[in-house]
Amino acid sequence: MWLVSGWNNLRYVLDAVEDAGFIQLNHVIWKYQFGVFTRRRFVTSHYHLLLLVKDEEDYTFNKPEHYPEDVWIIKRPYHHGEETAGNELPDELVERCIKTSSNQGDLVVDPVLGSGTTMRVCLKLNRRCLGIEINSQLEKRIKEKLKNLARICEEQQNNLRNDKRESGA
Ligand SMILES: C[S@@+](CC[C@H](N)C(=O)[O-])C[C@H]1O[C@@H](n2cnc3c(N)ncnc32)[C@H](O)[C@@H]1O
Repeated sequence: MWLVSGWNNLRYVLDAVEDAGFIQLNHVIWKYQFGVFTRRRFVTSHYHLLLLVKDEEDYTFNKPEHYPEDVWIIKRPYHHGEETAGNELPDELVERCIKTSSNQGDLVVDPVLGSGTTMRVCLKLNRRCLGIEINSQLEKRIKEKLKNLARICEEQQNNLRNDKRESGA
């Protein structure tokens, strides 16, 4: 399980995951650009991503590179003029988590779906996805994002088919 948290409530989060019987494999720092300007403290420009398992002997870990470090520098998306769920995670970050901890066809569950980043990334990576979101107003944004991606995937597949046909493969 991946859990994303800011630093403010981290101590409660860490207690809660331990109480729930999770083992911490990693405590990844996601460093992003442009935190909110501050006058008398440092600008927060990171999040914590906890990689948690219930069974240390049995979990999926697809190593993303030879020497995968636990500080990830990934830009935050900037949605100019768009209505968002707030704190939307970048696709690149979600992709890295999903690719590392699941395989094609696996079921990924996001119980705080927001605007549907996880669902969109799952569609792209051939994972199944179950999302839960309490704010029904986000339904429209989730569906729009998925519709756009479904169209892009379809176009890619058509292009691939055409390329194969033209090359006689
Ligand atoms: C930070 S956003 C999630 C961002 C999302 N993972 C993304 O990258 O787009 C958190 C979401 O959790 C939802 N949420 C909060 N409490 C919830 C609950 N008890 N059940 C379901 N969704 C909840 C909020 O409405 C909000 O949209």
